[in-house]
Amino acid sequence: QTPRREAFGSRNVFILSAIGSAVGLGNIWRFPYVAYEGGGGAFLIPYLCALLTAGIPLLFFDYAIGHRFRGSAPLAFRRMHRAAEPLGWWQVLICVVIAVYYAVIIAWAAMYTWFSAQLTWGPGNENDFFFTDFLQSADVAVVGVSTDFVPQVGIPLVVVWLLVIGIMALGVKRGIGRANMILMPLLTVMFAILVVQSLFLPGAAEGLNAFFAPNWEALANPAVWASAYGHIFFSLSVAFGIMVTYSSYLKRKTDLTGSGLVVAFANSGFEILAGIGVFAALGFMAQAQGTDVAGVATSGIGLAFIAFPTIVSQAAGGSIIGVLFFGALVFAGITSLISILEVIVAALQDKLGWGRIRTTLIVSIPLAVISMALFSTTTAISVLDTADAFVNAFGIMAVALVAVIVVAWFLHKLPALTEHLNRRSSFPVGTLWKILIGVLAPLVLGYLLVTGLIEKIAEPYGGYPSWFIGVFGWGMVVALVLIALLLSALPWGTRSHAKDDPEY
Ligand code: PHE
Ligand code: NA
Repeated sequence: QTPRREAFGSRNVFILSAIGSAVGLGNIWRFPYVAYEGGGGAFLIPYLCALLTAGIPLLFFDYAIGHRFRGSAPLAFRRMHRAAEPLGWWQVLICVVIAVYYAVIIAWAAMYTWFSAQLTWGPGNENDFFFTDFLQSADVAVVGVSTDFVPQVGIPLVVVWLLVIGIMALGVKRGIGRANMILMPLLTVMFAILVVQSLFLPGAAEGLNAFFAPNWEALANPAVWASAYGHIFFSLSVAFGIMVTYSSYLKRKTDLTGSGLVVAFANSGFEILAGIGVFAALGFMAQAQGTDVAGVATSGIGLAFIAFPTIVSQAAGGSIIGVLFFGALVFAGITSLISILEVIVAALQDKLGWGRIRTTLIVSIPLAVISMALFSTTTAISVLDTADAFVNAFGIMAVALVAVIVVAWFLHKLPALTEHLNRRSSFPVGTLWKILIGVLAPLVLGYLLVTGLIEKIAEPYGGYPSWFIGVFGWGMVVALVLIALLLSALPWGTRSHAKDDPEY
C-alpha cells in the first residue's frame, strides 16, 4: 500500500511556497540590470508583454499539468502519455545541475552577510578580496579543474546543505510549507527596509533616474525583447518541473489560475522593488566614486560580491545594508533551492515508491558531495559560470520548447488542460491561452534557442578553453538528455506511486 500523496497545508501555503520559489537570485541581481540595459523605463513594455503572453500562460500550463496528473514531473508527463516521461526527467536533471551551484551562491552570500557586519574585505579592496582572498580563484586554462579545497567556501556550503536537507526531510507540509511561511515574511520585511534605507543614500535619485529613464529606441531591438522573454521564464520558475511538482500537492478543488496570478504579480513586485533598491544604491556608489551610474551598473556576481561590498564600505550604516542585502539573498535563495530539490526528491519518490526521508538523503547527499567537490575549490567560479549559462540557454529553453510542442501538437492536450484549469478557477482561460502556448511560446522559445546556439558556437563562451566548455557546457547539456532517456527506460518500482494514487 503506497502512502497518500503529501499535500500543502492550505492554498495559501502553496501560494507562498510558489512565490518563495519564484523570488530568487533572478529578482534581486538579474532583473535590475536586464531592465536597465533593455531601455530602463521603456523596458516595462517588453517586460509586461513577456509576462502576460508567455510567463503567466506557461505558469498556468505547469499548474494544469501538475494538478491534473497529480505527480512529480516524470509521473505527470507519463500519465499524460507514456512516451512523454523523458520530458519530466529532463526537467529533473536540469534541477540537479542548478541545485549544485545554487547552493554555492547561497553559501557565498551567507559568508558575506557575516563579512558585511565587520567589513572583512577592507575598504577599497572589494574586488581582490572576492576573487583572491575569498574564492582563491585559479585559472582553469592553467590548472585545469582543481581539487584544492577552500575552507571558507566549503564550510558554509556544508551548513547550507544540512539546513536544506533538514527542511526537505520534514516533508511538504512541515518542511517546505513551514520554511516558506517563516522565510518569506522575513524576506519581505528585510527587503522593504533595505529598499527604504537605500532610497535615503546620497545619490539615490541619480540611480533611480538612470533606472527609470526610458530609452524608447531599445524597443526596436529584438535582443531586448528576447531578453525580456528569457528573463520571465527564469524568473517565474516555469518549465523546471517546479510548478508541476508543487501544484501536485494541491487539493483537488483549487483555484489554479487565481493562484498563478498572485504568484506572478508578487514575483514582479519583488523585481521592481529590487530594481529600485539596487539602482538607488548604485546611484550612491557612482556619486561616491565621482562617475555616472552607467560606470557602475552591473548584475549577477559582480553586483552582489563586488559592487555591494563597495557600497557597504562607503555608505553610512553600510553594514546594515550589507547584512540586509546578503541576508535577503540567502533567504530568497533557500526558498528557491528547496523548490529545485523537491522536483528531484518527488520524482524519485514517485518512481521508486520510497519514503520521504530515505529519498531526501539519497538525493541530497550525492548532490551535496558533488557541489562540495566542484565548488569549494579554486576553479569554482569558472565551472559555475559555464554551467549556469549553458543550462539556462539549452536546458530550460529547450525543455520548455519541446514540452509545449509535444503537449500542444503531438498529444493535443491543450483542450483537456483548458477544461481542467477552468473547472475551479476564478480566471478562465480559452482560445487565447491555447494560441499563446501552442504558437507564440514555441516561436519565442525557438528564437531564443537558435540565437543562443549561434552565439555560443560563434565564440567560445567566456573565453574558457574549449575542453572546459566541452565538458561543463555542451557535454553537460547533452548528458542531461541522454540520462533522461535512460531513466525513463527504467521500470517503475512495484511500490511506485504511478498507479495507485487514490485521488488521481
Ligand atoms: N525563479 C528564480 C529566480 O528568479 C530562479 C529559480 C530558478 C528558482 C529555478 C528556482 C528554480 O531567481
Ligand atoms: Na523570480
